Amino acid sequence: MLKRTDYLTKNYGKPDGWTLAAYEAGGGYRGVRKALMMSPGAVVEETKKAHIRGRGGAGFDCGMKWSFMPKPSDKPHYLVVNADEGEPGTFKDRTIMEQNPHALIEGCIIGCYAMGAHTCYIYVRDELHLSKERLWAAIEEAKAKGYLGQRPFGKTYEVNIFVHTGAGAYICGEETALLNSLEGKRGQPRLKPPFPAQSGAFGMPTTVNNVETLAIVPTVFQLGGDAFSKLSALHHLNDGGTRLFGVSGHVKKPGVYECAVGLTLRELIFDLGGGVLDDRPLLGVVPGGSSCPVHLPDEIVNIPGERFEAYNGKCILDIPLGVDTFRGAGSMLGTCCAIVMSDAVDPVLALQNLMHFYRDESCGQCTPCREGCGWLERVVNKIVAGEGTMAELDQFHEIATNITGSTICAFGDGAAQPALAFIRRYRKNFEDYINNGAATQTRSLSL
Ligand SMILES: Cc1cc2nc3c(=O)[nH]c(=O)nc-3n(C[C@H](O)[C@H](O)[C@H](O)COP(=O)(O)O)c2cc1C
Repeated sequence: MLKRTDYLTKNYGKPDGWTLAAYEAGGGYRGVRKALMMSPGAVVEETKKAHIRGRGGAGFDCGMKWSFMPKPSDKPHYLVVNADEGEPGTFKDRTIMEQNPHALIEGCIIGCYAMGAHTCYIYVRDELHLSKERLWAAIEEAKAKGYLGQRPFGKTYEVNIFVHTGAGAYICGEETALLNSLEGKRGQPRLKPPFPAQSGAFGMPTTVNNVETLAIVPTVFQLGGDAFSKLSALHHLNDGGTRLFGVSGHVKKPGVYECAVGLTLRELIFDLGGGVLDDRPLLGVVPGGSSCPVHLPDEIVNIPGERFEAYNGKCILDIPLGVDTFRGAGSMLGTCCAIVMSDAVDPVLALQNLMHFYRDESCGQCTPCREGCGWLERVVNKIVAGEGTMAELDQFHEIATNITGSTICAFGDGAAQPALAFIRRYRKNFEDYINNGAATQTRSLSL
């Protein structure tokens, strides 16, 4: 279902569209005024009705997550914004920070109020220079108007927002590694439990939310939670509202498009993305960031369970992009930023590139991930050099399977999923390298 919306994107590309004046002219800072008239508990309930599935990749319900925070006590509570956005192929959060930073600030004020937090940290990937500049400027503008500080919008409820810059490690996007990094410690994931709601930043109750998750919250309070949820074609699956869909790689019009939830990959690639570059055949698509499995363009889906009956027997390209629809189909929605590959891509080289990334970015804390990612890269390097064997291809599969589910955080699974999916779907290409040597390499890597 292709339904374009512009709740977050209406000022994108407009001169000075990121300023407070432009934001307010478009109806900005009205949602927070409504929220601050409600009790914090009612704000959480309204957010639950919206069914915002976390936009950072795991797809956990935002209102539900907020409800896990303990009641206000003498302990400080924190809201932490995950603005690390390091997932290859993902570039939606930076557009919000660059072009609509006040939506994020407004969402943070509402989130802080709902969860009894007075301090919010926005953890931004250091390389995102324009994002940082625009956030700093927007925070100053909001402070000058009194929207941040002791009495936002006249309400006696102090809220302060600080930007904290990371140092470019992908693992610091994992929420507990992010918290360690925020505290000045080594950026390595923490064992859970305790979850951040019990013991998060500085050992205090904390909620970590993605930039987009929070930036859409003001819209929820403008429209009402239920009305927002119903914008989605997957409202019945509790996957509500609208979201940003990214598309990159071999499409004619790569970019970020805001639509109602329920868009299909076919619509994203061919309608919004303008189709495959040079009108070449589609080799494959990764639905939502590099940690998701790759799919062939003609895969037929079979999702167990009555709720999904309508989707069975359909091509993966025609399944509405939703958290549960894609999980059910044995895939992952991830960040909802699709990577498109035309048949100009050599999938073996594409996987080599990904395996290099995961080996390089593994924090090294868990043995299966530290050793496994190195091993995966070495095997794929051998295959590309024409020195691999069939036994090593099977070993590659075994290593990736052994990483899955055996690490502290989801990074290991994120490395294993593409590994398993590429060799399953393009096995013949891998075998060609093994049988015919490096002479097989006729196509390029342009992933
Ligand atoms: C290796 C790794 C990297 C991640 N990177 C990000 C990221 O850059 N941004 C993000 O919002 N979530 C990222 N996540 C997911 C976060 O751990 C967390 O689920 C998310 O910030 C929660 O926000 P949400 O509930 O609003 O989606 C990453 C997870 C893993 C395992």
